[in-house]
Amino acid sequence: MEKILTVITGASGALYAKKFIEIINKLDKKQTIIISNPGKEVLKHELNDKFPRGNEEILSFIKAEWDLPRPNLLEIAAVDSFNSPVASGSNAADFMVVIPCTMGSAARFAQGISTNLIERTFDVMLKEKKKIIIVPRECPLNQIHLENLLKLSQLGVDIIPAMPAFYQKPESISDLGDFLVGRVLDHLGIKHSLYKKWNGSK
Ligand SMILES: Cc1cc2nc3c(=O)[nH]c(=O)nc-3n(C[C@H](O)[C@H](O)[C@H](O)COP(=O)(O)O)c2cc1C
Repeated sequence: MEKILTVITGASGALYAKKFIEIINKLDKKQTIIISNPGKEVLKHELNDKFPRGNEEILSFIKAEWDLPRPNLLEIAAVDSFNSPVASGSNAADFMVVIPCTMGSAARFAQGISTNLIERTFDVMLKEKKKIIIVPRECPLNQIHLENLLKLSQLGVDIIPAMPAFYQKPESISDLGDFLVGRVLDHLGIKHSLYKKWNGSK
């Protein structure tokens, strides 16, 4: 069974993370989630005031509140633990998706800094030549951001910026989220119907 590592960092766009985790959970795939401490704050701020801080509490909370039909396929790993199986190249996930990705995490990824489990797993996935997608979000981007993103792209990381499109004629915030998550799924080779593919303007 395929294993996906889903990382949430403290950038705006918690909705994307929720949608992505829910979609992956509907498929027959194991999913390990890691959330940075700022990521927990943003989840609380953007999604739900009652979002807890402790990892076990978060797991129980999302199993109760989110659309997760296969809760047994979901686990959470603590950002400050290097004991997790995903920290080792011998047990690396098949795919890593950082959604959303801060400029801080992108910078640390680009420099090979490995001070928490998120950075360590990125380092591991890179050395094991596994597929990594990041969904960076910041506005505007400074030169350091752009240089780090370029470096990550040159290292083979897929950069799917949190830039929803409007040619789909979105009717809600949820539609905007669906488009972005759909683009991530496209790059994972996962079929979906989250948005309609462009078929000309008629
Ligand atoms: C509500 C909120 C929204 C934020 N949005 C962004 C963002 O879109 N992009 C970004 O790079 N940082 C953003 N930040 C700042 C990061 O959370 C901060 O730099 C943090 O140290 C990143 O740590 P992490 O990469 O370990 O999650 C935001 C912070 C808050 C509180």
